[in-house]
Amino acid sequence: MKFTLKKKTKVSSEASVIDVPTLSVPEHVAIIMDGNGRWAKRRGLPRAAGHRAGADSVRKAVESCSALGVKFLTLYAFSSENWNRPQKEVETLMGLLENFLKDKTPEMMKDNVRLQAIGRLDMLPDHVRAALDKAIVETAGNTGVTMNLALSYGGREEIVDATKRLVEKATLGEITADDVDNTSFANEIYTAGMPDPCLLIRTSGEQRLSNFLLWQLSYAEIVITEKLWPDFRHDDFLAALSEYTKRDRRFGKV
Ligand code: FPP
Repeated sequence: MKFTLKKKTKVSSEASVIDVPTLSVPEHVAIIMDGNGRWAKRRGLPRAAGHRAGADSVRKAVESCSALGVKFLTLYAFSSENWNRPQKEVETLMGLLENFLKDKTPEMMKDNVRLQAIGRLDMLPDHVRAALDKAIVETAGNTGVTMNLALSYGGREEIVDATKRLVEKATLGEITADDVDNTSFANEIYTAGMPDPCLLIRTSGEQRLSNFLLWQLSYAEIVITEKLWPDFRHDDFLAALSEYTKRDRRFGKV
């Protein structure tokens, strides 16, 4: 991953000119990377080609975060529901992920990127889990962007898992019902220790959460772009930040 993004202060997006230095940059951005299949279909290519192109956009998005100062990037790479896709597509995605982890770890080391993952990781095939664990351990000391991959991830499943842990603690007598509050709950979810994302970007136009970070996105701003994920590049990231910068965030207050 090379951070050779041009140091432009003003860029033209489809809608307007973006004044880069005045952008609000959230500490944590989450992305629902949608549209790989449509991207491939429009080109008469197999879906696998869309997913491969999508993996390139992952690399570019991490570069954008490094260049802009976003500290955490959580990417919805494989949902709990994605296990229900045809077996061949699941295998393609798992293979892509394994290759990505193996190929990109040296670049992550060079670029100071830390890898983390959230989800029911024990459901991943052994070869993917091994590559994931290795990359997480190798990059653990890096202090730049944290790329957090949501894998075999579901927001409801995460809430169920956190609840189970609290019940286990209660059963052991470590906590009582009075100890369960927003803070103790947030300490049991997969993203414990990370700030909640302030911005959710979803590509390819769909307007739904699709079981993603249901707890963490409570107060996030949502930016939907028509761009398909394989086409999502730095200027699209800037356009999303520009939209975010214009939002009036009130957190329920007046
Ligand atoms: C949604 O597109 C995307 C996914 C289900 C998987 C996301 C995977 C990648 C971006 C590539 C691999 C990831 C890494 C981290 C290497 P879709 O297939 O649902 O598209 P469609 O809605 O147009 O059919």
